[in-house]
Amino acid sequence: MTISERVAGLPPYLFADIERKIEERRRAGADVISLGIGDPDLPTPPHIVTALTAAAADASTHQYPSNRGELGFREAVATFYGHRFGVALDPADQVVPLLGAKEGIAHICQVVLNPGDVALAADPGYPVYTTGPMLADGVAVSLPLKAELGFQPDLEAIDGDTLAKAKMVFVSYPNNPTGAVIEDDFFARLVAFARAHDVVVVHDNAYADITYGDYVAPSFLATPGASDVGVEVLSLSKSYNMTGWRVGAIVGNRELVDAYWRLKTNIDSGMFAAVQRAGVAALSGSQQCVRDMCKVYERRRDLLVHALRSVGIEATPPKGTIYLWVAVPDGYTSASFTQQVLEQADVVITPGAAYGPSGEGYVRLSLTVPDERLKEAVQRIEERVRL
Ligand SMILES: Cc1ncc(COP(=O)(O)O)c(C=O)c1O
Repeated sequence: MTISERVAGLPPYLFADIERKIEERRRAGADVISLGIGDPDLPTPPHIVTALTAAAADASTHQYPSNRGELGFREAVATFYGHRFGVALDPADQVVPLLGAKEGIAHICQVVLNPGDVALAADPGYPVYTTGPMLADGVAVSLPLKAELGFQPDLEAIDGDTLAKAKMVFVSYPNNPTGAVIEDDFFARLVAFARAHDVVVVHDNAYADITYGDYVAPSFLATPGASDVGVEVLSLSKSYNMTGWRVGAIVGNRELVDAYWRLKTNIDSGMFAAVQRAGVAALSGSQQCVRDMCKVYERRRDLLVHALRSVGIEATPPKGTIYLWVAVPDGYTSASFTQQVLEQADVVITPGAAYGPSGEGYVRLSLTVPDERLKEAVQRIEERVRL
């Protein structure tokens, strides 16, 4: 039997090594707390669950859905974009539902790339910015995000050869893993860059509403000209604690959205209509649940920042996302520091290098564990971690 080079060449699953180490510690009797994976611990708000239950009992949802998505879902996405971001979207041809943002990120590469074309991938970044292009026979080229530039890529620094082959660029703000947000004209510069080099922008908006204090994250599509050059990928996973439900949408440029839909008709048969109706409940209902959840994360963020500082590790509280991105102390690599925290405190954190070469020197801590477990993790870090 032969496995394709395309699949054989994929890097190992990001968390495989971490899961193995957790298993080893657990087998040795340790009570391991994982701040590794960003999967919200809180339940989906009840009004969304109720909408699903009612829709699932309606036999009209039981047949194949349309790949275009129910009109009600597309309208809810468009209305949400209008209210929330001030972006006008036509539900007829600028919105297609996704089985999660991950699906959109992986498959958009097949819409844009020919073999050998380059995708510029934010580094550190969500791993599918690299594996998506690989699966489309493209080449992912790292677009380093450096602390000194606020974890924005230096678009001027991309070399001419790479630019000549570049067909798309992946960015995401609020940013996983760095927690960086956009507070300047970066999106306008990105539109100008995309126009100048005929590059498609894919803005991954997975953390749009996970923000703290007064900060409100913009949509890339609110930037003048953005819909001419790109698409945005919306996810309901984090805003509404719906990671298991697999709901998102790809929105923006008509030609890309239409091509995406044509691709998708050959890959899956759409999203369960009952889930789409639950998605409508999420997007059209009160957004108080989102604000309440951000308060929970904000409290956890501050607890963790305090604990890290008390052991001599400087941490900047992020304005968005569910992660702390922390430089490792002198003398450590991201892997050796992760290892030490696991051994001394039985707390799992993620090595930054797992998100790309520019993540070396950092670790990522997730805020998605219940308060009591987080407090326990914090106490262990304070009492047991010795640098
Ligand atoms: C930056 C980023 N994009 C996309 C996703 C995937 O989102 P979804 O659950 O909608 O597939 C994640 C999940 O953690 C993420 O961190």
